[in-house]
Amino acid sequence: MAIEWNEQLATGNSNIDNQHKELFRRFDSLLAACNQRKGKEEVHNLLVFLGDYVKTHFSMEEALQKRNKFPDYPAHKEQHDGFMRDLRKLEEQLELEGASFPLVIQTNQIMINWLIQHINAMDKELAAFLRRLS
Ligand SMILES: [Fe+2]
Repeated sequence: MAIEWNEQLATGNSNIDNQHKELFRRFDSLLAACNQRKGKEEVHNLLVFLGDYVKTHFSMEEALQKRNKFPDYPAHKEQHDGFMRDLRKLEEQLELEGASFPLVIQTNQIMINWLIQHINAMDKELAAFLRRLS
């Protein structure tokens, strides 16, 4: 199952949307590698590649929120932090269990669902707030 960004996920903020597209591309590569039972090292590298981008993207969103005094910043930041913790757990899981791909795929899918929900609720709210300012 491929995972793709689609128009329904558009927040209307092109910076945020472009980064979300890249996030989905990296998630998709990771999921594909898990599905194809690629080696632990390759999956690990893709996980690091994804993690780097998640960090960059979250930092961008958080800076934007702070700069514009977004009132929901604490709740939004908490969700981002939770996601980073899940990502680290996935990394640990991979280190420990290596070949347990069903679990890795399952975790991956849970995270993708989380991301979709986060975009639909939190990021769309942020984009609407920024639109009202401009
Ligand atoms: Fe966000």
